[in-house]
Amino acid sequence: MSGTAQIGVTGLAVMGRNLARNFARNGLTVAVHNRTVSKTRALVDEFGDEGTFVAAESAADFVAALERPRRLIIMVKAGGPTDAVIEEFAPLLEEGDVIIDGGNAHFADTRRRERELRERGIHFVGVGISGGEEGALHGPSIMPGGSAESYASLGPLLERIAAKAPDGAPCVTHIGPDGAGHFVKMVHNGIEYADMQLIAEAYHLLRSVAGYSPAKIAETFRSWNTGRLDSYLIEITAEVLAHTDAATGKPFVDIVTDQAEQKGTGRWTVQIALDLGVPVSGIAEAVFARSLSGHAALREASRSLPGPTAAPLSEADAARFADQVEQALYASKIVSYTQGFHQIQAGSEEYGWNIDLGSVAAIWRAGCIIRAAFLDRIREAFDTQRDLPSLLSDKQFAEEIGAAQEDWRAVVATAVHQGVPTPGFAAALSYYDALRAERLPAALTQGQRDFFGAHTYRRTDREGSFHTLWGGDRSEVSA
Ligand code: 6PG
Repeated sequence: MSGTAQIGVTGLAVMGRNLARNFARNGLTVAVHNRTVSKTRALVDEFGDEGTFVAAESAADFVAALERPRRLIIMVKAGGPTDAVIEEFAPLLEEGDVIIDGGNAHFADTRRRERELRERGIHFVGVGISGGEEGALHGPSIMPGGSAESYASLGPLLERIAAKAPDGAPCVTHIGPDGAGHFVKMVHNGIEYADMQLIAEAYHLLRSVAGYSPAKIAETFRSWNTGRLDSYLIEITAEVLAHTDAATGKPFVDIVTDQAEQKGTGRWTVQIALDLGVPVSGIAEAVFARSLSGHAALREASRSLPGPTAAPLSEADAARFADQVEQALYASKIVSYTQGFHQIQAGSEEYGWNIDLGSVAAIWRAGCIIRAAFLDRIREAFDTQRDLPSLLSDKQFAEEIGAAQEDWRAVVATAVHQGVPTPGFAAALSYYDALRAERLPAALTQGQRDFFGAHTYRRTDREGSFHTLWGGDRSEVSA
């Protein structure tokens, strides 16, 4: 017998609970289940009046509460716990039912799970969900993978709870088969790391070089947020910088340990980019910057190394410098997104996902952590130019970055002179310059490889592979 719930959520920690409430608030009957039964009861007691919940105490009750094909969302920790829950439910399901993993799973795990469950006749959908607790409740950006058939049954439900972009479109789309959704969520997080690092560098420069206070920097970010940098991360940066610690009366940012943590999705992005051979240098610098910040003993041991100390500018020069930092931040941000979309394109080709880059940009316009006004222009660039080799090849972005470059270079040069670390700004600028270079020194690298390892090289003027007899008469032979 089939139940009445259109969707079920198992795992009722804050993300699962808020997602269940979001479904219920949008008129769906939601079965809820948690290993610790008291959590299920607490959800219904506290929020039962928001919609229709069916509280299930056992796995069997939960499955019985769902209409067919059953759609059940797992909201538990990535890795082993997810496998354990799948194994608990899969034997209770029937052909055509859909298990959805809404956690931050590694896309390779999602591919494996999808394959194994497909063999048992069950659809497995790995869904990237961005927006944190608030997003889960009020509208996240949703990145589902899995089969087209499963999306036909699940998509309309997800559209109801997703964030809505400024043009009203729900921020959810079928990304592609198997692990495509979790892959795109992973890159989203990589870009999130890069965005955060670039903002942190802008803050560091405004503080050390412009001599601004956190409150003044908050004001600066607030004004940037009314322009082309308009985004959630800039908005919350202003909030954090304007906050004062109640216990000490000091700026909040001054009483927090300067060691950034990470759960790992940014690191995955870089690891996978290395495998795919995609240069995501901005994202990589962001991951390394977090890890460097955490090496407290190493930093302590290195603190007395010689170097310049930043000397604050005059008020007028500081204002001019702040404008330059805005240019550098915007240009570097364009590079981060260029690199992230390149990685998505490469992953799509590698795994045959056929991901539509314009649609990815479209569903990142609201709900997710990297939501930003300029994503609508990225959407437009990919939608209108299907074979765009890179975001930087788009005329409008190329013009903008061109207009910003003088200030961008000045900011990186100032940072270098004054000894302020700006790995994100500098890596982005190097990437830009490497792409535009007529000739790269890679030719010399090839010569070295051929010298010590007979690794061969290709010539600019003839087809084929060649090797120079470096240890002999230095004549060239076809390899
Ligand atoms: C989101 C966030 C979310 C989370 C990440 C990043 O899209 O809602 O990216 O997934 O904040 O886990 O956290 P770390 O900084 O700890 O890696």
